[in-house]
Order: sequence, then C-alpha cells, then structure tokens
Amino acid sequence: MRKRVAVLISGRGSNMMALVEAAKDPKYPAEIVLVLSNVPDAAGLDFARANGIATEVVDHRTFGKDRAGFEQELQRMLLAHRIEIVCLAGFMRILTADFVGQWQGRMLNIHPALLPQFKGLHTHRRALEAKVKQHGATVHFVVPEMDSGPIVAQEAVEVRPDDTEQTLAARVLDVEHRIYPLALKLLAEGRVFP
Ligand code: GRF
Repeated sequence: MRKRVAVLISGRGSNMMALVEAAKDPKYPAEIVLVLSNVPDAAGLDFARANGIATEVVDHRTFGKDRAGFEQELQRMLLAHRIEIVCLAGFMRILTADFVGQWQGRMLNIHPALLPQFKGLHTHRRALEAKVKQHGATVHFVVPEMDSGPIVAQEAVEVRPDDTEQTLAARVLDVEHRIYPLALKLLAEGRVFP
C-alpha cells in the first residue's frame, strides 16, 4: 500500500509540486492525498486543486495566540484524511513539541542549507556573507528543535564567485526538488528511521 502523505505549505509550493510529480509514478511508494496551508491564498493550493488533490486551510490568524488550538485543528484535518506521513514544504509556522511528538519519525522538513549550518531564515544571504564555497539543501526528520533532527538526504551545490542571493537560491531549489522526493521515498519504504 502506498503511504498517504500530507504536504504542509505556506506559499509558492514548488517542493510540494515536486512531490506531487514524483508521486504520479504508480511505482512511487507514497501518494500525496492532502495539501494543507495556513495561508488561505497560498499559490500552491491552486496547483493542488488542479491536480485533483484535496486541500485544506487552517488559518493560524483565526487562532490568535492559541497555538494549541491551531495545532489541534491541523491534527484533526490530518486524521480526517488518514495521513501517515507529513511533509513540511515551506510551512512557515513553528510547531510545538506536543504536535511534533505526535508525528515523530513520520514528519519531514526541507531546509535550504547544508544543516547543521545556517538554521533559520535567509540561508542564501548568510551563506554568501560567510563566503562558504559549498551550500545546498537538506531533508530531515522533524524534532522539536527547529531545523534539527536526523538528516535523511542532503546535497551540496557550489557557490560561484558571481552568485547573488537569487542565483544561489535557484540552484539550491533545483536540488530541493530532487532530494525531497528521494527522502520521502526512503521514509515511505521504511528504509530510514529517526
Ligand atoms: C524552500 O526553499 C524550502 O527549503 C524552505 O522554504 C522554501 C519553500 O519553497 N523551507 P516552496 O514553497 O517549496 O517553493
């Protein structure tokens, strides 16, 4: 049986699209059955709908400071869709240890840097400032600490002398779209453990 996967997004959703494209292959061990966003007009939602994938919106703003309430609603949606694996793909909310614990070993995130370097935001700018020669992307199991957790897949790109934040981001994004489907495949096949 293919694993039932939800992809959580907040914006463009290009990593979600890469996962959807990979899962179109009937031999791929996972199917994307839900795209969930905390942002009602996230661009990626239209792509999901156009591809016949169920979408849900849980707008964090309607919960104010009630993080537990927001996460309860997320969890309710995930259970309603009988989700087995959660992929965070540009999902811009920090999740509590409680929520993360409920998905331990079953939730992946993609980060645009070679973790453990450059956790957090603006990774491409910081990589250029640090003058690193190798940058890249990482897929990792989600643990309560942000951008941490066992690494499932990682790939480096070279940083070129004339790179800008934009050119570097584009080169890293190509890598993201390749390694996320690979990492999800490994998890869905039970070949990686946290
Ligand atoms: C990606 O760079 C991802 O690594 C980061 O947020 C960005 C999301 O892009 N976590 P997209 O929405 O998948 O296009």
